[in-house]
Amino acid sequence: MHVDRNITTVAERPNARDCKSLKSGVRIPPGVQDTVKYYVNLRMLNILLKYQLMIKSHKIQNPQIAYYLVMIKDKWRNNFFLNALTKHASGKVVLDVGTGTGILAFYALKAGAKFVYAVEKDLTMASIADKVLSKKFDRSRFQVISKNFWTDDFDNLIHHQIDLLVAEIIGPGLFDQGQFHAWTSIRPFASPDLISIPGRLSVDLHIWDEDVLGINNMQVRGKLQNNVDHNISRDKAFPFNLSSNGVDSNIFVDEVIDEDFFQALVQVDTSDNNALALSNIIVNDRIAATTINSKWVKTNSSCNYPAPNRIIENFFDYSYNNLPKIKFSDSAYPTHIKPIIKKLIDIDRPSTIALINKLSFEDHTIYLHDALYSAWMYSPVLQVSTAGKYQLEYTNYGLDHLTPTEWTLSPIE
Ligand SMILES: C[S@@+](CC[C@H](N)C(=O)[O-])C[C@H]1O[C@@H](n2cnc3c(N)ncnc32)[C@H](O)[C@@H]1O
Repeated sequence: MHVDRNITTVAERPNARDCKSLKSGVRIPPGVQDTVKYYVNLRMLNILLKYQLMIKSHKIQNPQIAYYLVMIKDKWRNNFFLNALTKHASGKVVLDVGTGTGILAFYALKAGAKFVYAVEKDLTMASIADKVLSKKFDRSRFQVISKNFWTDDFDNLIHHQIDLLVAEIIGPGLFDQGQFHAWTSIRPFASPDLISIPGRLSVDLHIWDEDVLGINNMQVRGKLQNNVDHNISRDKAFPFNLSSNGVDSNIFVDEVIDEDFFQALVQVDTSDNNALALSNIIVNDRIAATTINSKWVKTNSSCNYPAPNRIIENFFDYSYNNLPKIKFSDSAYPTHIKPIIKKLIDIDRPSTIALINKLSFEDHTIYLHDALYSAWMYSPVLQVSTAGKYQLEYTNYGLDHLTPTEWTLSPIE
């Protein structure tokens, strides 16, 4: 290594910041300075990367937050909402129904929303959302309300007209968590030109002839059936392992799209380690199964199924201004609102029908079955062995997740 004779010390140099040493008073030959600089920079970079990784790969300790990981870490899903909110939330009064960890309310506030109501029926999650939002935003800009948006009275709680509704209450069956309920219940508070994110829920039908998909072709049939899980357990549907050590630490590295939200969540998680009950499963009356029930199958392109023989686009197609008929029942939550979704369909040969669920805002549409993490990846599928006229009807009135009565096909005499 070349050593310059012109040795100097930090103290002697006119500007100590120009010195390539960390410790003052250390004598450094200027020729070595670049090498030292290189290693110092490398070390700094390493520390920075480690810090970033540490932040991004935080192990979630609070099981209640961990339950929301499938959503928090889902860049694909989150981008859909973030982009829409970034475009529209500025200056608006926003209502986030089912705020969970507060993620969408957070995006809205960050996008410049004037005020955000974050509604969450689960008290623990509401308190988590409140803490997360307060890490970054002034309380004068948001209000978390822990109530059930479809059954509780909000008359004295919402003091503005709502300009923008954001809600991700969409289960794998598209209609099975309550988007219609949200669109119905917001009406008394909605401004005449309410923006809704998502703006539209629609379903394409992919129909395969029996011949092509092969009810007699055991290979394809077997493949389809192997994919069907009649009894999907929570673990399978939500592919992360919870242990006393928290969740897989690298889970976030590539998935964080908003550092501020993630850091706020990590702070809440680490400061709030109370173990809480994981589930808040709603058990409802089930409508008795009629004729053919849905199975839950993965249908995205990675499954390599033959192309469907027939695609009926937007067979069902709803939006805030185009709701299905809703029936109110006397029974207690959550069966009190029943969307009446049914349509006749002619099936001229034995077929397999997959309901391909879509979520849209403006000209952007995502297909639920492309999800990597959540139970969205499963599509309801019905197998018809006798040709005829059928009524395809949504029968998941209890808002159950992955139920065989999501859709039923009844023959019309
Ligand atoms: C799919 S999670 C979405 C959470 C969060 N918005 C996100 O995007 O990650 C749906 C949330 O809606 C809440 N929820 C469902 N029905 C509700 C209702 N009737 N009123 C208020 N919150 C509700 C659930 O407790 C759950 O936290």
